[in-house]
Amino acid sequence: MNQQVTKARHVAIIMDGNGRWAKKRHLPRAVGHQRGVEAVRVLVRAARQMGLEALTLYAFSTENWRRPEEEVSALMGLLKRYILADLREFIDNNVRLRIIGNYKELSADIVDLLEDALTRTASNDGTTLVVALNYGSQDEIARAAAKASAKGAITPAAIEAELDTAGLPPLDLLIRTSGEVRLSNFLLWQAAYAEMWFTDVLWPDFTPGHLEQALTEFETRERRYGGR
Ligand code: FPP
Repeated sequence: MNQQVTKARHVAIIMDGNGRWAKKRHLPRAVGHQRGVEAVRVLVRAARQMGLEALTLYAFSTENWRRPEEEVSALMGLLKRYILADLREFIDNNVRLRIIGNYKELSADIVDLLEDALTRTASNDGTTLVVALNYGSQDEIARAAAKASAKGAITPAAIEAELDTAGLPPLDLLIRTSGEVRLSNFLLWQAAYAEMWFTDVLWPDFTPGHLEQALTEFETRERRYGGR
């Protein structure tokens, strides 16, 4: 039974620390990413059960191409296996998949797989799982501004309507794991009035309990949106 347990509608997460998690255990980085996917799987289920409208996860940035080819292909393989393994669960549990970023530049097999998953979950209206892939916020804003300008005046509302996140609820809470305190080109526009929650926990160790902790703290914050 899904239950609305929080006022937050949209939570986004910078899932950081897979590499350090593995290093601490003298394991290959790919094992850290594998455990990171397990954390994703558990968290998506929790988000759905909590009645969150949207959960946005930073899975692969436009800067991540700079990593060794072996690591990039390990990440792509994990993404592929995750979608293949969990698509049925999304369909059965009213989870809608959405991708932000230039995912069409990924390899053809992944693009096909993602598009199939997008189509098959498009009419779901429970939690939207938004995966940021080949995503960079500056790139997203530049693309949106170009589209807005082709249609008329460049206003904040016109840009917002062209962002990859158009139509999603406003971002309420942005979480980053692993002790780093920066946005790394993630949802720069959308974070304008979002609350931030940083934790030292490394991503593979992140649990629904941590999400609940962040949401509990979110409930106590007074959001003024620039007013008083
Ligand atoms: C940061 O850890 C994590 C990433 C660059 C990728 C996050 C991807 C996943 C958890 C798996 C794929 C995602 C989905 C949605 C299935 P890092 O390698 O930067 O860690 P470090 O800073 O400790 O080296």
